[in-house]
Amino acid sequence: MTPRTTADIRKAYLDFYASKGHAIIPGASLVPENDPTVLFTTAGMHPLVPYLMGQAHPMGKTVCNVQLCVRTQDIDEVGDASHLTMFEMLGRWSMGDYFKEGAITMSYEFMTSVLGIPKEKFAVTCFEGDSDAPRDDESAAIWKKVGVPEERVGFLPKAKNWWGPAGQTGPCGPDTEMFYWVGPTTPDGLRGVDSKPQGNPATHDAEWLEIGNDVLIQYDKQADGSFAPLKQKNLDEGLGLERLACVLQGVGSVYDTDAFRPMLEAVFAKTKKSEADATRDARIIVDHFKAASFIIADGVRPGNVDQGYVLRRLIRRAIRSARKLEIQELGGFSAYMASVVRAQYGDFYTQLETKKSVIEETLNREEEAFMKTLAEGTKHFQKIAEKSSTQIAGIDAFHLYDTYGFPIEMTKEMAAESGKTIDEAGFTKAFEEHQALSRAGAEKKFAGGLADHGGETTKLHTATHLLNAALKKVLGDHVNQKGSNITAERLRFDFNHPDKMTPEQIKKVEDLVNDAIKADAPISYSVMTVDEAKAAGAIGVFGDKYGDKVKVYTMGSFSKEICGGPHVAKTGMLGSFKIQKEESSSSGVRRIKAVVSGGPKEVEVAVEAA
Ligand code: SER
Repeated sequence: MTPRTTADIRKAYLDFYASKGHAIIPGASLVPENDPTVLFTTAGMHPLVPYLMGQAHPMGKTVCNVQLCVRTQDIDEVGDASHLTMFEMLGRWSMGDYFKEGAITMSYEFMTSVLGIPKEKFAVTCFEGDSDAPRDDESAAIWKKVGVPEERVGFLPKAKNWWGPAGQTGPCGPDTEMFYWVGPTTPDGLRGVDSKPQGNPATHDAEWLEIGNDVLIQYDKQADGSFAPLKQKNLDEGLGLERLACVLQGVGSVYDTDAFRPMLEAVFAKTKKSEADATRDARIIVDHFKAASFIIADGVRPGNVDQGYVLRRLIRRAIRSARKLEIQELGGFSAYMASVVRAQYGDFYTQLETKKSVIEETLNREEEAFMKTLAEGTKHFQKIAEKSSTQIAGIDAFHLYDTYGFPIEMTKEMAAESGKTIDEAGFTKAFEEHQALSRAGAEKKFAGGLADHGGETTKLHTATHLLNAALKKVLGDHVNQKGSNITAERLRFDFNHPDKMTPEQIKKVEDLVNDAIKADAPISYSVMTVDEAKAAGAIGVFGDKYGDKVKVYTMGSFSKEICGGPHVAKTGMLGSFKIQKEESSSSGVRRIKAVVSGGPKEVEVAVEAA
């Protein structure tokens, strides 16, 4: 039986690559660990960057998984037939194992034999070459060898056939992409018009839909824009699960697939509007509550900055759509939608079950808070819109934000609905004057990319382990990591502790870390099971998703902790350590910001224990 449902396709992918020797690893949190430059995990390769750069992965050189990804740049587009805030990426990686031959032969077997995609509806593109990297005739030859006809192989330039780095610097390379013939698009953006396949994406771009990407990661993009060869060649494959389901089920929109359709029906059942009139808002409601449920499950709460602000925007925009559909049961509607999402995804994503109450409570609280001001704010908006000819003043948009809690993106959307724009620069100015929050900072992060894994971040990462161990010694064994965020300038560490630390405690922690640095203790790691790690006394966030095998880093006699790395080879490389700030992060959680200085610029990286 060829897999057709979303759940079957997901399972078929993991089963197939497990049968080809890939270890199945858990998807990472939606909130990237130790990566301050992006708000959410945007691709399956994102948590694997250190391993693509050459660190050993505890599960071996070939792995696969399903990774939830959030791409915030798509949020405002949600409502049409194809955009989603969150999607599932089926991914597999060769980290210094097989390269083009293995990548392509297995991709082809999966697409045609496992999924049963007809050969005439399958096409590929390869990198046409430029001054950074040569034309990829090698991949094209392999595709032809496995059975793809000449006319289905196209060559395209870097703008199309190159992936990464996810940010300014880091792993990247030419890619070879896989496409499915969907034919011409209907005017409302729906796919699936049956017609005879022609050419390839280089000749008939609009009619071929990308369904998979094999990135041949072999370069490390430098800050100066040049491409340094990586020490190992890698494959980073990503397949969009919802898109695959869409084409395999022969439906025109991802919202019409087996996973989304029942969730949409649940919304239609609660509105008197016709399906045609309700579709756009129903899509927003379903997409946003789905993403919000998973984001809350990974520990985010609605707020005014960073991930919390994205979450707030999602919930509030969905509530506004629910109000437009005149759904009566507001006051509990969010939690109801969370249960609809859970019914669809709870089997595979067990966090929806284990975090059920916190998801529902968080959603309902935000819904209640917003409902208090939504009606008033909407009236206020109408008054403003009437008095504004074509543009709404920045100060008015700020007032809607500040007094009624209207995210600026929502005001912009409301303005567009009445044919108007917003003076965004004016809004930002009013906003900055009121210093309400660093949303500008958040926007920069959306545009940013992966953290660099250079010397400074590696040192600070090592310092974080020493700090964690020192806090346990000084404050007690109850101390556990609640969050970590590292830039090239500083570390930020959140941990549970009921009281503000005294100056003496801060000094003591600092001294302990500096003693460990002075001891210049060697650092190495060993690979073991989670149980073995626990038995060895390693600390870790044990509620977390670990694979069957983990790496445990030992830093002299000071610290033993489960972690992916990388770390410096000797504690002395940190120079000296200083805590700059100790403050409250949220109820029962404290936050420390600290720096290191005086160590060498280039550091050696810790390796596996002999
Ligand atoms: N990283 C690539 C992508 O996001 C392939 O997984 O498309």
